[in-house]
Amino acid sequence: MADLSINFCGIRSPNPFWLASAPPTNTGDQVMRAFDAGWGGAVWKTLGDPIVNVSSRYASVDFGSVRMMGLNNIELITDRPLDVNLREIAEVKKRYPKQVVIASLMVESKREAWHQIVKQAEGAGADGLELNFGCPHGMSERGMGAAVGQVPEYACQITEWVKQVARTPVIVKLTPNITDITYPARAAKKGGADAVSLINTINSIMSIDLDSFSPRPDVAGHSAHGGYCGPAVKPIALNMLAQVAKDAQVAIPISGIGGISNWRDAVEFILLGASTVQVCTAVMHYGFRIVEDMVEGLSNYLDEKKIASVSELCGRALPRVSSWENLDLNYKIVAAVDEQKCIGCGLCYVACNDGAHQAIGARAKNGRTEVEILEDKCVGCNLCSLVCPVDGCISMKQIDAGRPPLTWKEYQRNPNAHTHLAHK
Ligand SMILES: Cc1cc2nc3c(=O)[nH]c(=O)nc-3n(C[C@H](O)[C@H](O)[C@H](O)COP(=O)(O)O)c2cc1C
Repeated sequence: MADLSINFCGIRSPNPFWLASAPPTNTGDQVMRAFDAGWGGAVWKTLGDPIVNVSSRYASVDFGSVRMMGLNNIELITDRPLDVNLREIAEVKKRYPKQVVIASLMVESKREAWHQIVKQAEGAGADGLELNFGCPHGMSERGMGAAVGQVPEYACQITEWVKQVARTPVIVKLTPNITDITYPARAAKKGGADAVSLINTINSIMSIDLDSFSPRPDVAGHSAHGGYCGPAVKPIALNMLAQVAKDAQVAIPISGIGGISNWRDAVEFILLGASTVQVCTAVMHYGFRIVEDMVEGLSNYLDEKKIASVSELCGRALPRVSSWENLDLNYKIVAAVDEQKCIGCGLCYVACNDGAHQAIGARAKNGRTEVEILEDKCVGCNLCSLVCPVDGCISMKQIDAGRPPLTWKEYQRNPNAHTHLAHK
């Protein structure tokens, strides 16, 4: 059996699955139930000075029959008294010494305030600290959260303050609401962070009620921009993860967050360099129980691949994340339709004809649309296989043009040697 345990910047966890700082980690009771279900760690709902929340707080987008493909919230940090949270952290750690409890922290940007909360969280027994430089609403207007994460100098400064007194590892949680996430990641490293976590939620207005004109979530006929998360944000999170993981100036462990719902999602994050993964929306949707399948799925996957531990898997896909200029211009694929599986809906034809490269021929026959790939026109864009409603009906096959790999850089150096690309 593969070893699922991990050592994340000195923090030992039975498995890489942690709850992200959010409603599922509001209380000690929830965190203990999560640990019973199998979660390896929990990042406590962010601690700080008392706040008052609005009602309502959440809105979502569905996609087809899938509910909550994206979730938006305008909630702030914990609204429970600090001493209650600290007492419960101590209780959880006493009862679950092997599971990880990370205290997520956010206070005003004053050295004394940060020193105090760090000492309080560590005094309660937290295994590590996560600095919340990411919340995009409510707290940022007060100079905290994303207001810190968006200015690398501030992020560095506060990390330095925390490191002056912290005895446990310090994780800096990054905001995605920034042009280049490597800048705050480097700032965190410069400030002495032991790790970074990403992503927090993405600025968003969820939707507008067509009758009342009120944005959602509705608060007495008004709303504010909120933070977007859930399955819809996974591609954005993966890209930002890869950017940070590939940056030699960061080079500290990463906890991956954003749209993780199952073990496959988690493996993708690990392959792109995350050592632990954190989950929020999927637990808000389906409950703590989803971790059982995550643990089993990851374990089976590692066994099948004959990979002994999670750490051996970490970052294995990173060398394949390249920049466009390094891709092979001579690699060529075209679509192939499995006639046995084709239901004759004609959607591939319409999509290709109107929305892509006019590389599919079609004719009506017995109420169906018979399609034919015009290989000389097909550019291998994938669109037909993406819109096809039948699994495995349209596949992409490689055409061997008999040419060695050629990158854009090489082509630029000597265009005349590659006349077959001259029209591109
Ligand atoms: C309702 C709600 C409240 C959240 N509160 C916090 C918070 O207090 N501190 C924090 O760092 N992140 C907070 N988050 C962000 C999550 O920790 C996480 O970064 C984000 O939801 C992306 O993960 P997901 O796609 O699995 O939900 C919150 C998210 C939601 C949905």
